[in-house]
This record gives sequence, structure tokens and C-alpha cells, in this order.
Amino acid sequence: MSAAQQVREYPATMTWQGTASGTLRLIDQTLLPVEYLEIELTDVAQVFEAIRSLRVRGAPAIGCAAAYGLVIGLQESVALPRAEFDAKVTAVADYLATSRPTAVNLFWALDRMRRVVPQSAGLSTPELLDRLLEEARAIEVEDREMCAAIGRHGAALLKDGQGVLTHCNAGGLATAGDGTALAVIFAAAAQGKTLQVYADETRPLLQGARLTAWELQQRGVPVTLICDNMAGWVMHEGRVQAVIVGADRITANGDAANKIGTYSVALLAKAHGIPFYVAAPTSTFDLTLATGAEIPIEQRSSREITHGFGKQTAPDGVNVYNPAFDVTPAELIAAIITERGLIQPITVARVREMVG
Ligand code: MRU
Repeated sequence: MSAAQQVREYPATMTWQGTASGTLRLIDQTLLPVEYLEIELTDVAQVFEAIRSLRVRGAPAIGCAAAYGLVIGLQESVALPRAEFDAKVTAVADYLATSRPTAVNLFWALDRMRRVVPQSAGLSTPELLDRLLEEARAIEVEDREMCAAIGRHGAALLKDGQGVLTHCNAGGLATAGDGTALAVIFAAAAQGKTLQVYADETRPLLQGARLTAWELQQRGVPVTLICDNMAGWVMHEGRVQAVIVGADRITANGDAANKIGTYSVALLAKAHGIPFYVAAPTSTFDLTLATGAEIPIEQRSSREITHGFGKQTAPDGVNVYNPAFDVTPAELIAAIITERGLIQPITVARVREMVG
């Protein structure tokens, strides 16, 4: 069997069940890889909690989940007059927008949903709810298409026999499709290239170990798990010829926020002369921000570090700093792979040309 045939399918990260009065089914990513469980969300507080606690995570997947969450949050208001229903759209979208601060896809998806309201002035409230579900479905379908296009554009950057390092999880679990960084790897594998993927475990929540390693195994792509602090040595040993990661927000100058630890990997790649690629859809760009210094960085609970996965690993009362993301400056990025093509070299003008 050729390598191309070995890249297997695996279940969708989220699926909408039924009509506008339906529910959202998600893989609970906090349980992987030990347990595979799909949960059914029936009210907006559950969607908020699922996003905040990373049951669904990864920038594009958060956007899709929030769009469906808005539909769920409006279901009980469907008998209201239009003006009150419209106000409710704003209230529920504002609420969901506070679930996580860094991934811009959350705000992008909710803004796109909000725009449906003034565009649908003549519709009754039940018709508007149907229209909002249609928009959420479109966001999901387009995300799947964007992943495929990112894979197609990026695959040529990876050569047969290369070692490729990735950080966090920018795979199918983080999107509605095949992922961003992992879509490139899947597309290259589907072309028959044999790649050895090195997955950083990604402290403190281990998205690399729990999710990326699981996903690559599911899809039949060779993967080797390493601790985050091994990346430099693995590069020094000549095992890695390319680094590819996703992003949560990319600013007008090409600076890219991604999971904490990405910046260190980019510096290590630079020191070893290894190209560092960022793969992200245009929905991850925020051209309202000039540079990465303006990106809000999520601060998470100290317990993720002191009591990770239920086991205490630090003394009581110790001071902890737990930023969930960092920003890699554009000058460390060899190319940004979008669904519209490569941004290379990365300049304000090229970003605007591709995304604006
Ligand atoms: O905290 P998380 O797990 O949501 O962080 C996810 C990442 O940093 C991903 O790399 C990013 O969202 C890109 S997903 C295609």
C-alpha cells in the first residue's frame, strides 16, 4: 500500500444535530487520548464552558463552536418580537466573546453571525434563526475548505524524508477540517512523501502529546513525541528540516500568536537554520492590530501548572505565571501558509494584499 493510501479519515471535531432547534455534538478534547467521548451541548452556558475549559479548542474550531453556540443561545427566544430577538443576538454574542481572549477566529465568527441580523431585516424570528444556523454551517464548511487549501499550498514546502516539528495541536481537532499545520503534513503524506513528525508535548495542557500524537496515529502518519525542552537538541542532531505550527492571531505585520512555547521553537529553528512556517486561514488575521505587541494574551489558572491532570507537582503557595500564548515576530517566520497561498516574504504590504 502506498503512503498516500495510508492517510486515514477520523471523526469530525463537531457536528450540528438537526434543525435550528438542534444541538451541538463535540469530541471532548480534555479526555483524549485516554477516552473518546462525544458530548451534546444543549444550552449556551455549556458551549461557553466547553470553549473556556478547552473541550473544544484551537482557533478555527473555537470560531465554529461559538457560531453554533449563538444559535443554541437564541433557541428559547424564537417567540420574541424581532427587535427583542435582535438585542438578544447581541447579548449572546457578547457573552460568548468573553469565553477566551486570544484566538481572533472567535470574534471573527461571532461578528460574521452578528452581520446576518441587519442583512435579514424582512425575516421573522424563526426565519432569522434558520438563517443564523445556515451562516454557522457555512462557517464550518468554509473552514473545512480552507484547511484543504492550506494543505495544498503548503505541501510543496515539505520534502520526502524530512523531519517536521510541530507544537501544540493545529490539526483536525483544532478546526472543522484537516487542520492547518497538520493539513500540510497530511497533504504531503497523501502525495506519497514519508515524513517523520516530531510533536512537542506542549506544557502545561499537553495538546501535542494528547491530541497531535493521537491524531497523527489515527491518520497513520509516523510521529515521535518529545518533551518541549528537547526541541533544541533534536534540531541539533539534524532530525528536523522544517517546523510548522498554527496560529491564534496574526497581526498586520505578520507577527503570529500561538500556543506558549512557539516563540522558543522559532528561535531554536532560527539558530539551527531550519525554516519555521505558520499555517493559518485568513480568518486568523487581525489587520486592526499593527503588531503582535497588541495581541491580548490569555492568562490561565496556576493550577494547570501546579496540579496538572490532578497531580500536585509544585509546592503549595508557589508563585506561578501561566500565559497560554506567545507571539513569534514575523522576522522569524519563513512563510505564512494561507488558503489563498503563501505570504513570503512577510511584509505589511504582502499581508494586506493576501488578506485585506
Ligand atoms: O489553547 P489552545 O489549545 O486552544 O491553543 C491552540 C493553539 O495554539 C493552536 O496552535 C492554534 O489555535 C492553531 S489551531 C489550527
